[in-house]
Amino acid sequence: MSLTLSKIHFTRKSDRAVYVTSALAKQLRLRGRSTVDVRLGGRTVTAEVKPLRRKGKHLYLPLYVREAIRAPKTGNIYLATTDGGTTVRLGPLIGILTSGKGGIDRPFGTRTGMIRELLRAGGGKAYSFAFTPRDVNWDQNTVFGYFANENGGWTRKTVPLPDVVYNRLASRSADVSYGMEQLKQRFLRRNIPVFNWSFYSKWDVYRMLEDEADAYKHVPESTINPTPERLKEMLQRHKFLYLKPTGGSLGKGIYRITYSPGKGYFARFRRNGKNVLLRFQKFPSLMRMLGAGSGRMRNYVAQQGIRLVEIDGCPIDFRFHLVRNNANDWVVAGVGAKMAGRGSVTTHIKNGGTLMTPQQALGRVFGDRASDVLQRMKDVSIKLADAIQDNSRHHVGELGFDLGVDQSENIWMFEANSKPGRSIYKHPALKDEGRETLSLVFQHCLYLAKFRKRGNS
Ligand SMILES: Nc1ncnc2c1ncn2[C@@H]1O[C@H](COP(=O)(O)OP(=O)(O)O)[C@@H](O)[C@H]1O
Ligand SMILES: [Mg+2]
Repeated sequence: MSLTLSKIHFTRKSDRAVYVTSALAKQLRLRGRSTVDVRLGGRTVTAEVKPLRRKGKHLYLPLYVREAIRAPKTGNIYLATTDGGTTVRLGPLIGILTSGKGGIDRPFGTRTGMIRELLRAGGGKAYSFAFTPRDVNWDQNTVFGYFANENGGWTRKTVPLPDVVYNRLASRSADVSYGMEQLKQRFLRRNIPVFNWSFYSKWDVYRMLEDEADAYKHVPESTINPTPERLKEMLQRHKFLYLKPTGGSLGKGIYRITYSPGKGYFARFRRNGKNVLLRFQKFPSLMRMLGAGSGRMRNYVAQQGIRLVEIDGCPIDFRFHLVRNNANDWVVAGVGAKMAGRGSVTTHIKNGGTLMTPQQALGRVFGDRASDVLQRMKDVSIKLADAIQDNSRHHVGELGFDLGVDQSENIWMFEANSKPGRSIYKHPALKDEGRETLSLVFQHCLYLAKFRKRGNS
């Protein structure tokens, strides 16, 4: 396969042809061909190859051809020849799946800015657009997509089904719904790769790793839907537990429970925007508070508490953001450190936490061993990502891990996010890494769309 950037133009000509400069024809190995199949996403049209006298790599599309493949706009784009040189593909056509009810100014509500950032990463190289589930027309095999304008607005255009779908649906309940599963399956049935498939629950991830001893040793001991007996037994052994809603996020609904023989049970959690600490002398009163008087704690994971390393008495943990590149290899593209706010159960910034670079945080704790520890954490994150992929039904292109280090330098994984947030990139020192993750997502779209250079398959 040959892959090259070229400039696309529209012409008023009405013949069934493409006009190709000689530099481009050479690159695409089109010299000597009389016709070629021109493809965008799911649409193909056969066109005559006509020469064009002009310097540089240019492709002119007459009306007929551009309407047949529904080419959305002019400008720089990748071209790839495939099928032994009989087909020239434009694109790739990248669809970002999201949701939103907003107007045309802010079609994706508060996520509009992030979607624009994602689209920009492919700007001048591919056709990237955003769409919501109701924008797909399965009868016509088209999508009524949102394209970002130069001037900050949005333009809607009908395009073919994309070459690859990057799933950024924000709602967990919508993402795991039957309707959405069907939608994603329909793309797969048309050989259109979809990543990332859907949100994980914490318990799903722990189960995926269960048979991978090398990865599982980084998961704290965990139980789903714990009974009071089980909680009591875990507290006796560990003296310290986390109770987490398996489908939760942002620290919502999390309890940190400690047991101190003679003194009783202590529960820390967040209620109405404040950190609360309660003491219970007797185990049953703790259970009553947790709403697990007699039955199980439904949809909760009870997890061995880890004594995280601390700065000034505040625990720290880390977000590792991994993206696969254009060779399908995992890259640890962004790492942020988070220090818990005073009295907070989690390190979330929303709960008073502070963002730091990993070098700052690890430097404070481990001194000149910091870079060793960071490297070990990177290695662990890649091992975890490989293990998750090996136990997933679908392709995993991106992951965000919450990792901790305990006082004996053991590395622990608290959760894996299939739709990692981008809040760590607000830190001025992490902005470049933020951009790098966007660029890698785009590179990975090229890989999945099979826009690959020769020898890079
Ligand atoms: N087992 C644990 N031991 C120590 N700290 C934990 C444990 N589980 C979670 N935490 C802390 O709570 C934070 C939030 O937990 P996490 O599992 O990531 O849930 P959420 O989905 O709410 O982000 C973690 O980043 C970590 O700081
Ligand atoms: Mg988390």
